[in-house]
Amino acid sequence: MDNRPIGFFDSGLGGLTCIPYLMETLPQERIVYFGDTARTPYGSKAVSTIRSFSFEISDFLIENGVKMIVIACNTVSSVCIEDLRKRHPSIPILGIIGPAAHATAKLCGPKNRIGVIGTKATIRSNAYRDKILARNEDLDIAQTACPALVPLIEEGIIEHEIMDLSIRYYLDQFIAYNSIDTLVLGCTHYPLIRRNLQKLYPALRIVDPSRELLQSIRDALERHDLFAAAAGAEHTFYASDLSENFVNMIRRIFESTGRDIVFKTIGTDALRRGRQEKGKCGN
Ligand code: DGL
Repeated sequence: MDNRPIGFFDSGLGGLTCIPYLMETLPQERIVYFGDTARTPYGSKAVSTIRSFSFEISDFLIENGVKMIVIACNTVSSVCIEDLRKRHPSIPILGIIGPAAHATAKLCGPKNRIGVIGTKATIRSNAYRDKILARNEDLDIAQTACPALVPLIEEGIIEHEIMDLSIRYYLDQFIAYNSIDTLVLGCTHYPLIRRNLQKLYPALRIVDPSRELLQSIRDALERHDLFAAAAGAEHTFYASDLSENFVNMIRRIFESTGRDIVFKTIGTDALRRGRQEKGKCGN
């Protein structure tokens, strides 16, 4: 048993989509979330930049006493999860792609046409394709990056024709040309536009990796004997630049839990200094 919080992080508010499922089944767990809102989006940045931002944030979460880190970001999971595990060998570090690939492979057969959408970095890494094919090499997978969607979501532009037009710009041809019937939302921001996708492409089956992550969190808590014994105090949400949309979204998700919510800003200079002070800059 362990009452320390679980640390989650993402480039912004997308990682929040992973939390409601956890709260439903494990309401006693406490959360510390970091959204790097000052530097979002990550998906169009160089791998070395994404890695260095992730090191800063994971160091920060560990200094804040988390018992486990959940990388609630496909981009980070696809480019540097193993680097993070090497950097912090003392705690479990979970990514989102493995559980989602496993669920997709279980759900689909050779007759299905699977489409994976994500950021440029996620798609370029081929992490989804490789992990799905490793579980079933007979599956048919096409992938495409949709880089403009995350900035729109961070701005809260969701129920608007600009969002629908952007989705259609990336997906109309992709879905028709590849005859996609199953779409994997390979970015934690995308569950926030699930309704738009379902409206535009009603026949599509959607796989939401945020949901699949829950089982792997439960398994890791059990394996390492880390379940919280009692409901802790507050959930804490850090952002490198606290935006109105970020705060509102969190209030909406967590107001029904009855737990206190604390918002804090940690600027990117402070994050960088923290990492330098640990003398791990070159890692
Ligand atoms: N939500 C993130 C992901 O799952 C990051 C998106 C971005 O910052 O580009 O990839």
